[in-house]
Amino acid sequence: MLPQIMYYLHYGIMLGIVITSALMFLKKGAEIEVKKKIAKYFLAFTHSQFLIGMIYFFMRMQEGAHLNHMKIGIKILLLIELIIVATIYKKKLGGEKPVSPVFLLIILINVFAIIAMVFLWK
Ligand code: HEM
Repeated sequence: MLPQIMYYLHYGIMLGIVITSALMFLKKGAEIEVKKKIAKYFLAFTHSQFLIGMIYFFMRMQEGAHLNHMKIGIKILLLIELIIVATIYKKKLGGEKPVSPVFLLIILINVFAIIAMVFLWK
């Protein structure tokens, strides 16, 4: 029961990550406050995914499941990278200089790389 709830949460948060990363990119011309708010939600989703992913991982291990450890390790690394880039982006939003759109491009590419990996690598 609990692992199933974690599984659906993991999927739900993935959707949140996809939607907020796309919103960050589409709303790059919006006011700073709006951009900060979207970045805040994005960071909330990515941090939650990390936590839920870890809990789900240990639950599956306890069940004796055979997991693809390489895939999970790469997911962790990409997720950490995503969190770091998004945190720098959010911090820079308050500054005087305009923030480079390269940050948003990196975030979007990274998100799609994770999703492609999740579904194409079994
Ligand atoms: C943005 C990051 C992530 C996304 C989008 C994501 C997405 C998914 C999806 C869609 C699944 C179900 C499909 C499948 O079985 O592969 C899944 C499974 C799983 N994820 Fe994640 N995940 C992410 C990060 C993590 C992290 C950080 C961990 C653990 C530390 C984790 C642990 C797991 C585990 C243990 C499974 C079950 C694998 C299995 O049953 O074979 N995930 N993830």
